[in-house]
Amino acid sequence: MSDKKIIAVAGATGAQGGGVVRAILNDADGPFAARALTRNVDSDKARALAAAGAEVVAADFDDPSSLDRAFAGAYGAFLVTNFWEHFSPEKEIEQAKALADAVQRAGVQHVIWSTLEDTRNWVPLDDDRMPTLMGKYKVPHFDAKGEADALFTARGLPTTFLRTSFYWDNFIHFGMGPTRGEDGKLAITLPMGDKKLPGIAAEDIGKCAYGIFKKGPELIGEAVHIAGEHLTGKQMAAALTEAIGEDVKYNVVSPEAYRNFGFPGAEDLGNMFQFKRDFEEMYCGVRNVEGSRALNPELKSFSEWLVANGSRIPIE
Ligand SMILES: NC(=O)c1ccc[n+]([C@@H]2O[C@H](COP(=O)([O-])OP(=O)(O)OC[C@H]3O[C@@H](n4cnc5c(N)ncnc54)[C@H](OP(=O)(O)O)[C@@H]3O)[C@@H](O)[C@H]2O)c1
Repeated sequence: MSDKKIIAVAGATGAQGGGVVRAILNDADGPFAARALTRNVDSDKARALAAAGAEVVAADFDDPSSLDRAFAGAYGAFLVTNFWEHFSPEKEIEQAKALADAVQRAGVQHVIWSTLEDTRNWVPLDDDRMPTLMGKYKVPHFDAKGEADALFTARGLPTTFLRTSFYWDNFIHFGMGPTRGEDGKLAITLPMGDKKLPGIAAEDIGKCAYGIFKKGPELIGEAVHIAGEHLTGKQMAAALTEAIGEDVKYNVVSPEAYRNFGFPGAEDLGNMFQFKRDFEEMYCGVRNVEGSRALNPELKSFSEWLVANGSRIPIE
């Protein structure tokens, strides 16, 4: 039997968790074995992880007994919840609680909780620079994760709080890529003014998390903020122009206009970008690129990410 320590990875068929599993498997001589958690062990993504060498285990965040099986015997756990599947901050907090309870029952020795800032610490609900959403949030998908941090602290769990950044992969998968205006010209649309947006290749999140597991107890109790580069909209448009071979403009809109775009989550994202814009110094300040590279020497800049992924950005 292998003497490797098992890392149980939530969201293993997704962007963040998938990166963690691949980082573990790519270090064949490393100290860890990957256990991939998924609701559907027969999906193509789950089968690909199994074929690459991961142990694939059925687990549903809404089913505590499945989580007990998933974390049994694990040394470490990478935990991420998916707000965008249900758009409910309460559900995200419930799932984080179920995960925290399960890793506690299992006696896991190092937990990484993939989280984000509770923006209400900077923008209290009575601050009317942005609307309060769903009754008690400013940026629901941030605030729910940030609120859930306390679940890990209150249980005394050996946790590293991993605060991630905007995935550049959103230009491929999340409908944020360049679109053609009425003038026929391509543009990316963001309400960031001339402020910098910390971004990261989604795959690098998993690699950074792997670096945290390798450091072991040193980072338990710490908040680690990661980014691959901090760029203005203008700088991202210039890099996209270079990668796509066609002029891409930066279309600056107000957060208010963004909130009113009407797609599901537009208000949440409008508030999120406004938070990042208005608190640029703090938000960029904590997301140290060199610190991220120290955890993950393969960390990509935006241009490097574009070399590998630019052709996957849908352009019509
Ligand atoms: N897009 C960004 O720029 C960005 C930046 C920072 C943070 N985030 C956060 O990242 C989170 C999503 O992570 P991701 O992008 O890695 O996800 P993703 O690629 O969309 O994949 C979602 C993952 O969550 C798993 N999952 C969802 N509900 C589950 C449940 N009830 N039980 C077990 N597994 C469940 C899915 O597993 P199966 O379907 O296989 O069961 C899948 O592996 C969101 O909460 C978002 O706020 C996003």
